[in-house]
Amino acid sequence: MATDQIDTIAAHDYRRIASHWLTGVTVVTALTEDGRPTGITMNAVAPLSLDPPQFLINLDLASDTLAAIRASGRFCINFLRADQGALSGRFAKRGADKFDGIAHGHGKLDLPVLDGCIAHVECAVCAIHHSGDHAIVVGDAMAGATIGGEPLVYFTSSFRDLAPCS
Ligand SMILES: Cc1cc2nc3c(=O)[nH]c(=O)nc-3n(C[C@H](O)[C@H](O)[C@H](O)COP(=O)(O)O)c2cc1C
Repeated sequence: MATDQIDTIAAHDYRRIASHWLTGVTVVTALTEDGRPTGITMNAVAPLSLDPPQFLINLDLASDTLAAIRASGRFCINFLRADQGALSGRFAKRGADKFDGIAHGHGKLDLPVLDGCIAHVECAVCAIHHSGDHAIVVGDAMAGATIGGEPLVYFTSSFRDLAPCS
């Protein structure tokens, strides 16, 4: 049967199936037009290209952080540590006060780098593609570091511990 004769899957099926893709959890930070730090919890994040070095992030078109990334042309991916579930919760909501009391420094591109993350990478936006209700933002990796530690793991809408290989 031709695919144009079949309906796409229902939203709840999409969410359930997508939740079976195991990921880490990140907070992607940016600066608003007036220079305030902001950020969004994201797991739709991936390495893209080695030469040049690029990452991609997929943001809901309604995201306020996407607006900040468009305006400033840069973003920082902060890879969360296993004990940073509370940070994930803080940045998974909307509002201007997400950074209140959040310990952070500044990277080479002057972007917010969250204390305690296992790694971070600062990126300069080189392309934004739209698909469905999301934007695929591609960034050239300009600076970053690895600190190490166990990652925060996300699977079937829950945080998980990494099981050691036996
Ligand atoms: C574990 C987790 C992963 C998420 N991944 C994404 C994602 O990849 N892209 C996205 O647009 N929203 C994602 N969200 C939802 C956003 O964090 C949430 O909508 C947030 O309120 C957006 O904030 P903003 O509008 O200030 O940018 C995720 C939420 C959680 C809890």
